[in-house]
Amino acid sequence: MIVDCDPGHDDVFALWLAAGHPSLELRAVTTVGGNVPLEHTSRNARIALTVAGVTDVPVAAGAEGPLSRVLETAEWIHGENGLGGPELPEPAVPLDARGATELIADTLAASDEPVAIVATGPITNVAIFLRDRPELAHRIREIVWMGGSTERGNVSPYAEFNAWVDPEALSIVVGSGIRLTMVGLNVTHHALVTTAVRERLAAVGTRTAAFGDELLEFFCRTNDEVFGMPDSPLHDPVAVAVLADPGSVELTYTRLDVELAGTETSGATSVDLGGMLRREPNAWVATRLDVDRFWGVVEGAVARLA
Ligand code: BDR
Ligand code: CA
Repeated sequence: MIVDCDPGHDDVFALWLAAGHPSLELRAVTTVGGNVPLEHTSRNARIALTVAGVTDVPVAAGAEGPLSRVLETAEWIHGENGLGGPELPEPAVPLDARGATELIADTLAASDEPVAIVATGPITNVAIFLRDRPELAHRIREIVWMGGSTERGNVSPYAEFNAWVDPEALSIVVGSGIRLTMVGLNVTHHALVTTAVRERLAAVGTRTAAFGDELLEFFCRTNDEVFGMPDSPLHDPVAVAVLADPGSVELTYTRLDVELAGTETSGATSVDLGGMLRREPNAWVATRLDVDRFWGVVEGAVARLA
């Protein structure tokens, strides 16, 4: 699999789950401007892998911002550098000279089997790849994306952050015909970092677990300040869990559209669970999370890292 991300506290856990789970093989990481500008997300992805002792996975930078909008960032949740909390080490993983599009292309071409892409930020890089390298689209097994919601949003009443930052990119990916799974706030809001969860992860006792605990302390604090919820949802690893442990996330095949032009609802995902629009279903949408099983998967993966 390839992880396309914008670290971001929860993106780090998505990377660790992808790198540490025994049934997954992380082949490449690409980064996008999202939670913080690209310069930070590219450095943070390399730091996340460095801390975990994963130094053989290439990391390449992609788009600085959305296809046709000005980048909106989320320092208010993730801090100025995108990974507020721990002291950050120098990354031991270099930034690959190839850009994201080239790295994705090379990774797909080098694999005997189609490769899955998990995107945990604005989905700009994937849309650019599909636009620029359509001849390789059939090498993508599926796309699993954290973003959107079947319910309410987290940056506006109806829009989730990743969808809201680049809805045009999402629209391209939804229309591509490649199998797409949307893992939205309606399930990630159940993946709450409670005190018990923090204790469970910290008890793993490794360097990665200790670094993760410092990340979670900061993330829960800012989440409490912004949303009044001290138990922050850890969104992004839920998308990786769809591949790592398919039984932990229930999916529904339904109709997904994204609002591009709404005056109040730009970036809202319209998920027609009731079939009211009578349009062809076009996406799998996560509708339930086995919370305890999910944390067990995260814990197990973290335990296999440095
Ligand atoms: C998403 O937005 C980002 O802040 C998180 O990393 C996650 O990908 C949640 O809305
Ligand atoms: Ca993210």
